[in-house]
Amino acid sequence: MSTPQPVPPHITVPEIRSRKATRGAGAPIAMLTAYDVVSARLGDAAGADILLVGDSVGMVVLGRENTLTVTMDEMIHHARAVAAARPRALVVGDMPYLSYQVSKRDAVLNAGRFVREGGCQAVKIEGGDRRLKVIAALLDAEIPVMGHLGLTPQSVHGMGGFRVQARRAEAAARLVGEAVRLAEAGVFAIVLEGVPDEVARIVTDSVPVPTIGIGAGPHCDGQVLVYHDVLGLGDGPDPRFVRRYAEIGRESAAALGRFVEDVRSRSFPSEEESYRMPKQEAEALRATLRRPRGRKIGAAAKTEKPA
Ligand code: KIV
Repeated sequence: MSTPQPVPPHITVPEIRSRKATRGAGAPIAMLTAYDVVSARLGDAAGADILLVGDSVGMVVLGRENTLTVTMDEMIHHARAVAAARPRALVVGDMPYLSYQVSKRDAVLNAGRFVREGGCQAVKIEGGDRRLKVIAALLDAEIPVMGHLGLTPQSVHGMGGFRVQARRAEAAARLVGEAVRLAEAGVFAIVLEGVPDEVARIVTDSVPVPTIGIGAGPHCDGQVLVYHDVLGLGDGPDPRFVRRYAEIGRESAAALGRFVEDVRSRSFPSEEESYRMPKQEAEALRATLRRPRGRKIGAAAKTEKPA
């Protein structure tokens, strides 16, 4: 019998929450999006604390204009692929548009799918005061919830585009209040997206749970970026908050181009990249196929018909 190998400890929801208490002493939380087993493996190997199966999958993987058409079935499909990597990181499923806005019952059943079918340990939902009842229902069903305030992509039409939010004092004060109420409702962390860094700083100082920023400046308890943005896999200009750490898109295009060239010039595959039969088997094959006159290659000998 083989000795069981020690399993590396998984990052848990309480651990993420506790990172607020160690703020200043502990390392900031690093969150990355992941959509499949490859992005999950790479993000996890990089040491990310949280892998978010983001509904941004609709834009960066499925080529859609916004996140609104992403369905629960699509999210589960991607969540399962992320969970298949068995990451050490906490896996959070992003509740897609209309999966939690219609009723508490829908919200619990859909969030439950992320846990049961998708292998997630928590879910994220967008919005503030309007979500307090749904958050209570999810927590009642033992499903940890991450909040998301500021530029909430599912409100793209109401916001009139993907625009920085809470630039004015009144809107900023409202956002701070909503963050406090989300924390009181029991979310374990809050994503702050597309807000001025002064606002993110005040929220971070006002709530007892970690804030995780994206386009929200340096004062949050953690930062998140979209996998494709970090690696330079997007096809448009990056928003100003993105820092590209690689040019994988450009390198991939060049590599794929070299493959096509090699096929066209017949330099691929080489002998080393091909399989060979043993010499005597190749000879035997040729002998077998050496056709007697009138018989088709590979045809069995015909039996004589009785006269
Ligand atoms: O869907 C997503 O990728 C997100 C992050 C940007 C926070 O919600």
